[in-house]
Amino acid sequence: MSDAIIQVKDVRYVYARGAVVALDGISLDVPAGQSLGIVGQNGSGKTTLTKLFNGLLRPTSGAVIVDGRDTAKHSVQEMAGTIGYVFQNPNHQLFASSVAEELAFGPTNMKMSPEEVKAKVEEAFEFFDLGQYRDHHPYRLSFPLRKLVGIASVFTMGPKIFVLDEPTTGQDHQTTRVINRLIHKLSERGSTVICVTHDMPLVADVSERMIVMWNAKMIADGTPKQVFSDTEVMQRTHIAPPQIAQISMQLKARKGKEAVLNVEELAAELGGKKKGGA
Ligand SMILES: Nc1ncnc2c1ncn2[C@@H]1O[C@H](COP(=O)(O)OP(=O)(O)OP(=O)(O)O)[C@@H](O)[C@H]1O
Ligand SMILES: [Mg+2]
Repeated sequence: MSDAIIQVKDVRYVYARGAVVALDGISLDVPAGQSLGIVGQNGSGKTTLTKLFNGLLRPTSGAVIVDGRDTAKHSVQEMAGTIGYVFQNPNHQLFASSVAEELAFGPTNMKMSPEEVKAKVEEAFEFFDLGQYRDHHPYRLSFPLRKLVGIASVFTMGPKIFVLDEPTTGQDHQTTRVINRLIHKLSERGSTVICVTHDMPLVADVSERMIVMWNAKMIADGTPKQVFSDTEVMQRTHIAPPQIAQISMQLKARKGKEAVLNVEELAAELGGKKKGGA
């Protein structure tokens, strides 16, 4: 028995009556509390994989077990209290006329008592620092705030797992920073966070583990340091590691060593070498 909160067992997923094999032989265990990044080129199967986690899609063969439940035997709504799916565009997710209403919708729909709903909404206002916007119309908020409301409206359903599909794609620097901090905060709270992204600096910063999808298959699985150091995988998938990782891999003095993911670490390493007189 695995104690993973998500278990993907030899899954195959086929769209369009056999015309498109989107996932081919995927097995993956995600331990509770892990921050996992999923990367890979367009069409490699990332979104399909995450839609299997919350039962939006069901495997053609194989099984997906989430928090002890086989997703093939439960509705998306039943899974919503366990796994929250945050869509890329908050405009596709928000529809209420005030932020407070928006945050209350999910838990009310899940048949939580009015007291529980209120408690969840207040917790979310505090966690996301959105209290001052409770009566605002979501569409009148700036995009970064709307994005936060989108995540907060999943948060109020109390899921153990958050799936964020491309949370920073097309966002400005400020929004990216806000999302980055938020992912750290969710992780610190013990949530399992799965982030599908093309943003390699984001993965390097927020994910303790990353997997690489390629052509419906998972071709790498490790820490960001390990995966970004795998030049064969990086070339095959056209993934560009964060610049600091690229520089660290090209330095002759570091030949054969793993990539470094931040400036301080590289400086300390190079400075240390000098002192040692190597
Ligand atoms: N509804 C669908 N019907 C048929 N084929 C689909 C459907 N959705 C996705 N596909 C195909 O399945 C494969 C995997 O798609 P998926 O959306 O999972 O990729 P992705 O890695 O999320 O890509 P992106 O980075 O562009 O979001 C692709 O070949 C895609 O064209
Ligand atoms: Mg996708």
